[in-house]
Amino acid sequence: MTDAVLIRPLRNEDVSALASLARDIWRAHYPGIISVAQIEYMLAERYDEVVIHEELTRRDLWWDVLMLDGAMKGYTSYFLTDIAGEMKIDKLYLHPGVHRRGYGGKLIDHVAAFARKRDCQRLTLAVNRHNKTAIAAYLKHGFQIAETSVRTIGGGFLMDDYIMTKAVNR
Ligand SMILES: CC(C)(COP(=O)(O)OP(=O)(O)OC[C@H]1O[C@@H](n2cnc3c(N)ncnc32)[C@H](O)[C@@H]1OP(=O)(O)O)[C@@H](O)C(=O)NCCC(=O)NCCS
Repeated sequence: MTDAVLIRPLRNEDVSALASLARDIWRAHYPGIISVAQIEYMLAERYDEVVIHEELTRRDLWWDVLMLDGAMKGYTSYFLTDIAGEMKIDKLYLHPGVHRRGYGGKLIDHVAAFARKRDCQRLTLAVNRHNKTAIAAYLKHGFQIAETSVRTIGGGFLMDDYIMTKAVNR
């Protein structure tokens, strides 16, 4: 039996559930890729409910959730960068129980369709260089590694990423 899949915008009333889902996903997925201290630092920084509510007011950034049979199982956020024609996927996360069923691809297609409507020609994202399964997923869905990026994010932590890009065709 296939689950009923719905991708829809994140609403203000979903923000607590989203932050809780993010904590579950990050604490399951990132040990071994980044330290537990860095996981908690980044969760506190990026999934502070005030920050998400504020992002929901922006006109150049979007959040969507993936619902399976009415339960929130994933999410994505994306924004227009300073480069004309470029949309950045800032977040793309699915609950570990639903990986490898094509939902990541569906979310990427959803963002690509939106980017196309906004006259973008390119999707970009940053992925930790040790996040092998995510890199494999992005390669499978048409992204290529464009460059490496190492930068500090405060708290004594580093982001050690690949920048990956995908052309968005009309
Ligand atoms: C990355 C992610 C969004 C991909 O979504 P998904 O629904 O699992 O991926 P899809 O089903 O669309 O694509 C499947 C491909 O992803 C890769 N993949 C995803 N999960 C995998 C796993 N657990 N083991 C091995 N490969 C995996 C494989 O390349 C797979 O292709 P294959 O089945 O033909 O080998 C999802 O796995 C996820 O949320 N991962 C954890 C969080 C994360 O790292 N997010 C990205 C941050 S930049």
